[in-house]
Amino acid sequence: MNDDHINALFEPFELKSLKLKNRLTMSPMTRYFSPDGIPTDEVAAYYTRRAHGGVGLIISEGAFTDREISRNVSTVPSFYGDALEPWKKVVSDVHKAGAAMAPQLWHVGGARDFNYADDPLGDVLESPSGLIGPNLAGGQEMSDDDIAAAVSSFVRGAVDAKRLGFDAVEFHGAHGYLFDQFFWGETNKRTGPFGGASLPERTRFAAEVVRQTRAAVGEDFTIIFRMSQWKAGFYDVKLAQTPAELEAWLRPLVDAGVDIFDCSQRRFWEPEFEGSPLNLAGWVKKLTGRATITVGSIGLSTDLYKDFETRAISAPTPSTIRDVAERLDRGEFDLVAIGRALLADAEWPLKVRERRWQELRGYSVDLMGTLV
Ligand SMILES: Cc1cc2nc3c(=O)[nH]c(=O)nc-3n(C[C@H](O)[C@H](O)[C@H](O)COP(=O)(O)O)c2cc1C
Repeated sequence: MNDDHINALFEPFELKSLKLKNRLTMSPMTRYFSPDGIPTDEVAAYYTRRAHGGVGLIISEGAFTDREISRNVSTVPSFYGDALEPWKKVVSDVHKAGAAMAPQLWHVGGARDFNYADDPLGDVLESPSGLIGPNLAGGQEMSDDDIAAAVSSFVRGAVDAKRLGFDAVEFHGAHGYLFDQFFWGETNKRTGPFGGASLPERTRFAAEVVRQTRAAVGEDFTIIFRMSQWKAGFYDVKLAQTPAELEAWLRPLVDAGVDIFDCSQRRFWEPEFEGSPLNLAGWVKKLTGRATITVGSIGLSTDLYKDFETRAISAPTPSTIRDVAERLDRGEFDLVAIGRALLADAEWPLKVRERRWQELRGYSVDLMGTLV
């Protein structure tokens, strides 16, 4: 393996409203530094440092929709009301530093945050069937009116993102939160229009959000949808067991207007299905024809959940960067998202571009800790 493909990471990318100087994306990461949901100047500085460090696209930490019950921790930013002016400053600073930005819109559904179990916001939650996993209660069951209100809330967030000058919007459809609670049969036992025995039927909630958003923001504003097979606490779940099931799941989202799928995997090099080396982002691109983002332990030695469990320190591993660049160059996916490595080192993109492998820092930042 050599450095021949590294330049592929630094090719520009354009899709509708999204115009990127390179293929590197900051993956959304919750940092708990927005008291009462209001992003501070430190939050703006934190993102601006990454923009100066050369990343092309920043996807914000999950930010809550204006449906109050979408929140579970008070220090996670909101994306409505008094939080919007501070977000305007964040995106304007990030633009001046040369990067594009999308907010990640988030509704936790019935999922408490066990790192902040005492936060009273976690006491009142809602989910499709009052469940967050097999036999686990998680909030009150949503009525059809609640669902309609949750849909409108996401749409308002996307409209605000466009108005504030963001380059795109991302919906957090992964990891066992509200969208994913609709997708998964274990958490969606509804019999009405948003439930059903098949995955495409359980995709109706997400498709409705995307459809109404597309109608509200117009054709040109880029819509990114984050999805995953795994869920927090249920890492081995696979919603789609085969490529055909994956296609059936995502087709309604494509038809509704998703432009880019952000395909969350713990280790990008793992094949999604037997018989092909393609990873999740590779399969989603192939099956949907839409652009995709890959992610998962790029540049680091351990995966995220190992770090969460053991508080391990991941060492830099340039070989994974060369590998992902080669696959990008082959066209397996379009964008490459970096999570922990970019927390550890805001200048990661510049160092990679210049092949300064020895200078890359390992990941030793406390996952819930200091904003750096
Ligand atoms: C501290 C931390 C917070 C995270 N918060 C979010 C989040 O708010 N939304 C989300 O979709 N993913 C979240 N993730 C997952 C990351 O976006 C990413 O998918 C994951 O860290 C794997 O990438 P990495 O191996 O490069 O770190 C978080 C990860 C970390 C480390």
